Amino acid sequence: MAYKNIVVVGAKGKLGAPLIQALLSSKLADFTVTALVRKSSEYAAPENIDTNRFKLARASFDVHEELVAALKGQDAVVLVFTANQELYPTTKAILEAAIEAGVKRIIPSEFGCDELPMTDGLWMPKRMVNQMIDDAAKKNQITYTAIRNGPWFELAFELILGFNLKAKTVLFYDNGDRKFHTTTVASVCQAIISLLAHPDKFVNQIVHIHDFFVTQRELLDLVEQETGSKFETSTVDAEALAARAVEGLQRGEFTQDNVLGAIRTSIFREEGNARWDVNDDSAELGLGGVSLVEEIRKLISKA
Ligand SMILES: NC(=O)c1ccc[n+]([C@@H]2O[C@H](COP(=O)([O-])OP(=O)(O)OC[C@H]3O[C@@H](n4cnc5c(N)ncnc54)[C@H](OP(=O)(O)O)[C@@H]3O)[C@@H](O)[C@H]2O)c1
Repeated sequence: MAYKNIVVVGAKGKLGAPLIQALLSSKLADFTVTALVRKSSEYAAPENIDTNRFKLARASFDVHEELVAALKGQDAVVLVFTANQELYPTTKAILEAAIEAGVKRIIPSEFGCDELPMTDGLWMPKRMVNQMIDDAAKKNQITYTAIRNGPWFELAFELILGFNLKAKTVLFYDNGDRKFHTTTVASVCQAIISLLAHPDKFVNQIVHIHDFFVTQRELLDLVEQETGSKFETSTVDAEALAARAVEGLQRGEFTQDNVLGAIRTSIFREEGNARWDVNDDSAELGLGGVSLVEEIRKLISKA
């Protein structure tokens, strides 16, 4: 039976805000949603929200009893908050409170790509979170499902995938012909909802989802077709950029160039971390209906 009482942590975020709307409009189950925020948060409930099914709860995240009280009676807690240095301690506090409150399922703030040693400097907190939650699940204290989705299509299109729709340019990593999985934010929300509606599936697992499995060159063909313009291409050596970025991160230089360089090349290098040819769970989670051309048209219309 579907989990009905859902807590979302990260309600104001890029994933959290659309997730709350998607949960409340879902036909898969009659969810009630609690946005659990820190006392310092400036989050306000969206206008015209159904107050019978939505609640805003504030708590001091460093006071265990307050978190337990906020999580009592809840079936699942979905963590969609910023993955920064607070990720591990905040998740630990929520996990401990969730266990005490009797929450059945936790979805951690993962939503990235597979593990690669080159991104350890960036994503080690996520690996530590996954290990901590898996340990708790092995002790039967709680269950979890984590989601890996590759880059979020619409948010990554310029920043990670290399396209500049205004300037009509694209930066290829090597030949631009390596495939990667990418998922729209709406589909990430649908995957979360599907997991909550069918909690017997994917228990204590990391699932992999995508809308599109494409190369930069395939995207360029569609972008040129839809804009009717020829784009200027340039090329960067993925291995050389990866080495520079990783060395910088190892020296503790978390500059935008190093962080983005590591993220981009981890996707586009030979051993990419968004290229899980097999073991993809999209179909079983009800995904598969998104049109790449339509998504590209939306981006072009906003550019
Ligand atoms: N695959 C991709 O392309 C991609 C892209 C972006 C993000 N992600 C991943 O998706 C997840 C969500 O990221 P996002 O970008 O949607 O997040 P975001 O927009 O940065 O999230 C902001 C929200 O997180 C809350 N928050 C931040 N730190 C917190 C803490 N220590 N404790 C409690 N709440 C906290 C904020 O609360 P306040 O209201 O208090 O400010 C706000 O509601 C992360 O795991 C991230 O790594 C993946």
